[in-house]
This record gives sequence, structure tokens and C-alpha cells, in this order.
Amino acid sequence: MNDTFLKACRGEEVSHTPVWIMRQAGRYLPQYRAIRGKSDFLTMCKTPELAAEVTIQPIDILNVDAAILFSDILIPCEAMGQGLAFEENRGPILSAEIRDKDTVDKLFVPDPEDTMGFVMDTIRLLRKELDGRVPLIGFAGAPFTTATYMIEGGTSKNFLNTKMMIYQDPALYKSFMDKVTATITEYLKAQIAAGAQAVQIFDTWGGIFGPADFREHALSYVQQIIKDLKEWMNGRGESVPVIYFVGSTAGLLEDIKTSGADVYGVDWRIDLDTAIKRLGSDVVVQGNLDPLSLFLPKEDIETRVKDVLDKGSSAKGHIFNLGHGVVPQTSPEKVIALVEMVHRLSTK
Ligand code: CP3
Repeated sequence: MNDTFLKACRGEEVSHTPVWIMRQAGRYLPQYRAIRGKSDFLTMCKTPELAAEVTIQPIDILNVDAAILFSDILIPCEAMGQGLAFEENRGPILSAEIRDKDTVDKLFVPDPEDTMGFVMDTIRLLRKELDGRVPLIGFAGAPFTTATYMIEGGTSKNFLNTKMMIYQDPALYKSFMDKVTATITEYLKAQIAAGAQAVQIFDTWGGIFGPADFREHALSYVQQIIKDLKEWMNGRGESVPVIYFVGSTAGLLEDIKTSGADVYGVDWRIDLDTAIKRLGSDVVVQGNLDPLSLFLPKEDIETRVKDVLDKGSSAKGHIFNLGHGVVPQTSPEKVIALVEMVHRLSTK
């Protein structure tokens, strides 16, 4: 079993720096587009055989050290009772938007196996199919990032409706977030029970806040989830690493360190050694190459990979990744080369 990724998560000695890529299963791969050409995205998420197949594609093609479940952070929104659709070139559409007491009251905290059983079935199938080749990462959106989609009804630029709710009706926001938090906690437990060997919490939009608002309106809910997960895992005698990724990490590092996570995701807007200095050298970090630097010539990518590896070496553990997801226009050949570079340049 290639357990380099799990060892790095625990801060243990590794023979090379493990690497996986956020959004490694996706449209930049022709093999993904071939399957996607025959089914829509949500059908793929809800069909364990298809979801497992595209989860494994990047393991075969890229030689990465971990698999990440093929799914989406918005799956629980549908399970809570909101309408979810993905429209070509428009992204996700959630309806009705959560804007008032009536829409919040209609949401429920679902049983994950009853409403999202296809995700747990995919995990169970993947553990069989991967057969120990690489560990499997499960994931969920952080409550705040998930809530922005539910409130805005989709992707947003300035998060106006979200901030309006937070500032004009904080009690409503809190009652809504309590439901989202409970849903995500139970969902992550179900993924772990089904066999996820690490979980990542995506807080893509956490960085739209200043630190005080981030702590109150985003981080506090993540702290609750991680505390609950850790107690639950302790009771089961297991310890699955929790990774917390926040977009626009730089202004929030000291706060992120209080999340309770085992691994901190870092985006590319800060040098990794500066981030480690602020987090403390006893931490495990994940990141942080700019995804768009994959459009550079290979020699320049290699220089940047070396730099990230160098800067990451001051932490107790480093998992190489991009600072955010790989974009669909990326050449798969560059991503294959990136993984090879990380392995070659970090081998001890
Ligand atoms: O990383 C992986 O390979 C695993 C699968 C995964 C997807 N989405 C598949 C996906 C993961 C971990 C996500 C997370 C996700 N989804 C996030 C957090 C990380 C981030 O990228 O910020 C967010 C914010 C979403 C919500 C989402 N899903 C949006 C806004 C969109 C539309 C934009 C886009 O990239 O198309 C999606 C769709 C989506 N999720 C696709 C994939 C492969 C594209 C669907 C398609 O094939 O058309």
C-alpha cells in the first residue's frame, strides 16, 4: 500500500513528498470528458460505478499518491431539501434561495445513508477497487462555503445576500448554519464509516471575510465539526486525518490554526515558508502551487516545484498540491509532468 500521503498527514517520515491535485478528476482529462459526454455531472455523482471510474482515472494517468472521491460539495444541499442542478456553462443552480425564516425552516438535517447513500456506496466500491493502491480522501464543503451557494442560489461575486443575512439577521443565519453544520458533520461521519481514509473540508470562500467575521461566521462551525468528528473517531478507536482548506488563506492563518484540523491547506497567494512560520513548524501543510502556473513551460514549472518543495520542508509534514483546483484548460501532460517532478525532486 502506498501510504505516503497518510504518513505525511500524521507528520511521519516519508520517502518522498506525496502529491495529489485538487479537482484531479475533471474536464482537463479527455478520459473524463469521454464519460461526461454520455452522462450529466449529477448522474455521474449518483452512479457509484461511474463516480468510482472517474475517481480512479487520475491515479492511473497521473500517478498521484491519493484518490479523492468524485462528488461535489453541493450534494448535501439537495439532501437538505433544496433543488440542485448543474447547467452547462453556468455552474450550479440552487433553488429556492435560502433568504428568510420560511426557507430555513423547510430545510432538514438528513440521514446521510438514506439521502446520499450513493456517495457511501461509491466509497465502499472505491476501497475495493483501489485495493490499497492509494488512500481515499472523502470531503465536504465547510458550512460557510456551502451556505453561500444555498443563499446566493449559485456562484457569486460579492456574496451580497450572504453578508446581508449575516449582518441584518444574525439569528436567522445562525439557525441556518446550525442545520448545515449538523448535516455536514453526519455526512463526514458516514463517509469515514464507509471507508474514507482522510477527509478534506473545503472552505473556498472563507477568505471573503476579515479575520473577526471569519472566526464568528465561518471558522466556529468548522471547529464544531472537527471537535465532534474527533470525539466520534476516538470512541471508535480510529483517527482519520482532517484537512482544512481555506481559499485566500494568507490573512487567516493564525485563526485557521485553531480549527483543530491535522493538515492546513494553503493557497498560492503566500510563500509556503512564510505560512509555516506563522502556523508554527510543528504543523502539516498542503499546497501551494498556483494552478495557472501549469501554463508555464515545463522548465519554469520545475523551478517553481523546487521552490514549493524547499519552502515546504520547514514544516513537520508537507503534502504537495495546487493552491486551488486544476482548471479545465490545463494540458494533462503538464499535470503528469508535475507529479513526476514532485516525486523525483523530493525523493530522499
Ligand atoms: O477534486 C476532485 O477531483 C473531486 C471532485 C470535486 C468536484 N468538485 C467535482 C466537480 C470536488 C472536491 C469539488 C469541490 C467543489 N465543488 C468546491 C470546492 C473546491 C473549489 O473548487 O473551490 C466547490 C466550490 C464546488 C462547487 C462547484 N461544482 C461549482 C462552482 C461547479 C461549477 C464550476 C465548475 O468547475 O464546473 C462545480 C462542478 C464540478 N464539480 C465539476 C466537477 C468535475 C464540473 C462538472 C462537469 O463535468 O461539468
